[in-house]
Amino acid sequence: MKFNQNDTDALLNLLSWRRDVRHFQTTPIADDQIDLLLNAIELAPSVGNSRPWRFVRVGNDDLRKSVYQNFKSSNASAADVYSDEELENYNNLKLAGLKEAPLHLAVFTELNPELGKGLGRQTMPETLIYSTVIAIHNLWLAARTMNIGVGWVSILNPNELNSILDVPDDWQFTGYLCLGYPKFDAKEPELHQTSWQKNVKTNWIER
Ligand SMILES: Cc1cc2nc3c(=O)[nH]c(=O)nc-3n(C[C@H](O)[C@H](O)[C@H](O)COP(=O)(O)O)c2cc1C
Repeated sequence: MKFNQNDTDALLNLLSWRRDVRHFQTTPIADDQIDLLLNAIELAPSVGNSRPWRFVRVGNDDLRKSVYQNFKSSNASAADVYSDEELENYNNLKLAGLKEAPLHLAVFTELNPELGKGLGRQTMPETLIYSTVIAIHNLWLAARTMNIGVGWVSILNPNELNSILDVPDDWQFTGYLCLGYPKFDAKEPELHQTSWQKNVKTNWIER
C-alpha cells in the first residue's frame, strides 16, 4: 500500500477536527458502527503485542449512576485547588458528558497480561498503559470519521471504578470514554474557547 499527499491531507484534516466532546445528542450508536470502533482498537500497536487493553461497555443504569456520582465527588475535590475567579471558571466548565452520551466505555489495562510474554516491558512496565492509550486514540480517530464524538473522563477515583465495575484489581483504570453524536462541531478545543487554556505551540527541543 502506497499512500499519497491526499491521504496526508485527509489525516491532518481529521486530526484538526478531532475534539474531546462533552455535549452529546442522546441518539444511540448503531451496532455496526460499534463493530467498526472495535476494529480500530484491534489495529493498535502494543508492547510485545501484549494487547493489554480491557474495554468494559457500561450499559447498566445503576452502574452509570455510580460512575456519575464518582465523577461528581472527584470533581468537587478537584475544584479545591482553585480559588476566586479561577474557581468560578472551573465550576463553569463542563468536564464530562456522562449523562447524555449513549455509549460508555471504561478502559482498563491488564498489568500482567499473558500475551507478549513480557517482551519489551521489563524495564518500562508502564508501556502496557501506553499501549492502551494508543488503542483509545485509534478508537477516537475512527469514531471521528463516523461523526461520532469521544469524551475522555479522568476526573474519577480509579480504585473505586474497579469495584463499581467488578473487575480484577490488577486491571489499572486508564480512562472512561463517553461516545455519541456531538451536539456541535468545533475546530478549537473547548477549553481554549472557554479561555481556560489557550493553545500553546509545540516546538522541537534541540540538543
Ligand atoms: C488522558 C486525558 C484525560 C482527559 N480527561 C478529561 C476530563 O476528565 N474531562 C474533560 O473535560 N476533558 C478531559 N480530557 C480532554 C482534554 O481536556 C482535551 O483533550 C484538551 O483540552 C484538548 O482538547 P481537544 O481534545 O478537543 O483537542 C482528557 C484528555 C486526555 C488525553
